Amino acid sequence: MSDAIDPTPAFRPLLHFTPPKGWMNDPNGLVHHAGQYHLFYQCYPDDTVWGPMHWGHASSRDLVHWTHRPVALAPDAHGMCFSGSAVVDWQHTFVAECEITTVPRKAVCGTLRADMVTPLVAFFTRHVPGESPELDHQCQAMAASRDGGRSWQTCDTAILDNPGLQDFRDPKVFWHAESEHWVMILTEGQQLGIYRTQGGVEWEKVSVFGAEHGAHDERAWECPDLFPLPIEGSRGEQEGDVDRWVLMVSVQRCGPAGGSGTQVFIGDFDGVHFTPHQPPETVTWFDLGADCYAAQSCSDHPGERLVIGWMSNWLYAHETPTGDWRGAMTIPRALSLHPDEGGEGYVLRQAIPEQVRRSAGALDALVVPRRPAPGSVLELGEAQAALTEFQLQLATGAAVSLRPFGDDSLIFRLERVETGLDVTVDRSVPDDLYAGAEAALAEHFSHQTHHHLPSGPRVACQLLRDSCSAELFIDEGRWVLTELAFPTSPEAMTLSVERGEVGLFGASARHW
Ligand code: FRU
Repeated sequence: MSDAIDPTPAFRPLLHFTPPKGWMNDPNGLVHHAGQYHLFYQCYPDDTVWGPMHWGHASSRDLVHWTHRPVALAPDAHGMCFSGSAVVDWQHTFVAECEITTVPRKAVCGTLRADMVTPLVAFFTRHVPGESPELDHQCQAMAASRDGGRSWQTCDTAILDNPGLQDFRDPKVFWHAESEHWVMILTEGQQLGIYRTQGGVEWEKVSVFGAEHGAHDERAWECPDLFPLPIEGSRGEQEGDVDRWVLMVSVQRCGPAGGSGTQVFIGDFDGVHFTPHQPPETVTWFDLGADCYAAQSCSDHPGERLVIGWMSNWLYAHETPTGDWRGAMTIPRALSLHPDEGGEGYVLRQAIPEQVRRSAGALDALVVPRRPAPGSVLELGEAQAALTEFQLQLATGAAVSLRPFGDDSLIFRLERVETGLDVTVDRSVPDDLYAGAEAALAEHFSHQTHHHLPSGPRVACQLLRDSCSAELFIDEGRWVLTELAFPTSPEAMTLSVERGEVGLFGASARHW
């Protein structure tokens, strides 16, 4: 929910962040500072297609209500402002080095809380387009704010020069406490470069990761992130043995539903090398849907690790049928890491943050049969933005369909087979629906994807729908599927029993 937005009816979501107008892609510089979440984002405010990249800015105290702020970074003589990250510069490492001396600290101390004047520092890519993509020039740059994110000053000189790469971008910076260094991880074509500094502007390259790991296509990896997560249940064990590191990175053309997707690796990081636990050929998707890209975690948040992704796909992002805005963010997700059943690896779970769930207008227990017969169609909520949560018990051979918009647009089909759960996403739009639209939407938006999940007979589900999206969380967020949908006449969410023995427990609905 955002303030000061004209009520543009065309699919404007209620709960999911959208720009006030114009184009938006990746989340950038997610950071928590002085009680507020700051969300920056790639945007081109003057049109609804990608263009000269700015950093848009919004802030929120609860991840639900967002206040739009003036554009934080705009293209200038040094180039466009591509993706990156932001941190609270609590040691004054970067601001002192860069001599950004705009607002004298004394002047702001009178009106702002002390923690407000701790600088915020943004790391981003300067992009100067060449005559062809091979002639583009990218280097890393820095900007700082000494007034809690209200105004930003950029350093004129690059903090990291281009070593001769076409794709050299998307710096994510974090403090690595054990080695007492700031670390930067960024795209270097098909791999990631890892750099570190103690002093501020001198970044030393220490390792690379990824050329031989995970999913690749002909385009560069994009928007990496690297952060620690405690292994649930391990708190209190000997120190140093409780965290694992999660590396997320996006691929442009070989995602789980075609096109864009975000993959994850779980492993160790010693401040220099990232060592994944899985074999190099293993591919793990952060989200199995078509529309979760460039997911980034929030820096400096004292609580859980929160992640937001861009809810679109480069295959058709320019043609989605929204109004004078284009592009939305996923619902924020709180991550947790659990030992898997075999005790060898780890399971990453994503949860809708409590504060988002609590912000709903009401929580209704749903009156639904505990053993719905084949053929039954149960309504699960009809509000514009609604979250339904329930547990399914599926006998082998049983199948249910979840329709976030009733008979319009999108179907998730869950079928219990001997070895687990088969999930099919069916986003088949009628041939004539996007006939007038440009080719990419007509060609790529319709898709049917299948996933085989090693899940037990009892399946915890959460389905969140908003005006133009559905996010399905399966097995307490062990698998998430995010899908855009543009229903022409949305109806209530439904669950229908296709066949077999189905148990339904603890069904509830929230609406906004
Ligand atoms: C990812 C991306 C980034 C780049 C930005 C430009 O979607 O291509 O790699 O920094 O978008 O807008």
